[in-house]
Amino acid sequence: MSYLPSPEEKAAYVNRMFAEIAPRYDLMNRLMTGGQDVAWRRELIGLCDLPPHGSLLDVGTGTGDIAKEALRQHPGITAIGCDFTFEMMAAGRRPTADGEPLASQLATRNSQPHFSQGDALHLPFPDNYFDGVTSGFLLRNVTDLSAALREQVRVTKPGGRVICLETAPPSQVMLGPAVRFYMFRVLPVLGKLVSPRGSAYQYLPNSTRAFPEPDVLALKMERAGLKNVFYRRKMLGTVAIHVGTV
Ligand SMILES: C[S@@+](CC[C@H](N)C(=O)[O-])C[C@H]1O[C@@H](n2cnc3c(N)ncnc32)[C@H](O)[C@@H]1O
Repeated sequence: MSYLPSPEEKAAYVNRMFAEIAPRYDLMNRLMTGGQDVAWRRELIGLCDLPPHGSLLDVGTGTGDIAKEALRQHPGITAIGCDFTFEMMAAGRRPTADGEPLASQLATRNSQPHFSQGDALHLPFPDNYFDGVTSGFLLRNVTDLSAALREQVRVTKPGGRVICLETAPPSQVMLGPAVRFYMFRVLPVLGKLVSPRGSAYQYLPNSTRAFPEPDVLALKMERAGLKNVFYRRKMLGTVAIHVGTV
């Protein structure tokens, strides 16, 4: 029941798990958070402080919701979503139907991020390249958190922001017992109902419990080279948005 992969098998496990739940991932997100994840992504992009024709990289982009939100708020930017699970990015691409009018095909294309397959620990981009780098619910899945942060700092231009949206361990949050009950009892059942690979939603609470508290994550961001780090807690403290400047 309380499964957490070993460090050696974690990357392969995470990749396989997201490939399997990809078709139902967005639906499960809306259900788990009561639709609040949409507002968090909106706020996260608002915090990016992007210039009008700037560039954004979203690491561990999954179906690309953060990059799509960036294009909605800033239609003139270039947004790239990078993930090592092809199936998640494929689930996030809206195919243009044969016979669809050209104007609507173009509108779809302009509202879609560019997807790029790559590892968060070895981002396939040059140094100082993006005006902002985001990640949503990625960091708890990587095998080396500090290395992932350093990579995000490396590809961000000086003065640009690195912003992370992530779950926080339920130990010190308000209503701790109720939150733990929801995470460890309700979520796995909900996950089994919605997604054939229900065990993914046992991994989620366990990986959240093993993840650093927001204060510790803020320190790690500073050690990775970020300045002016601050964070905002969301949903009874179970989620946090961290912001730092390169
Ligand atoms: C929980 S999903 C988050 C998707 C999306 N960012 C969101 O906000 O809903 C985590 C994503 O991180 C990706 N991921 C995990 N480890 C990764 C790594 N080392 N490199 C690239 N992507 C990774 C997974 O494939 C998955 O799509």
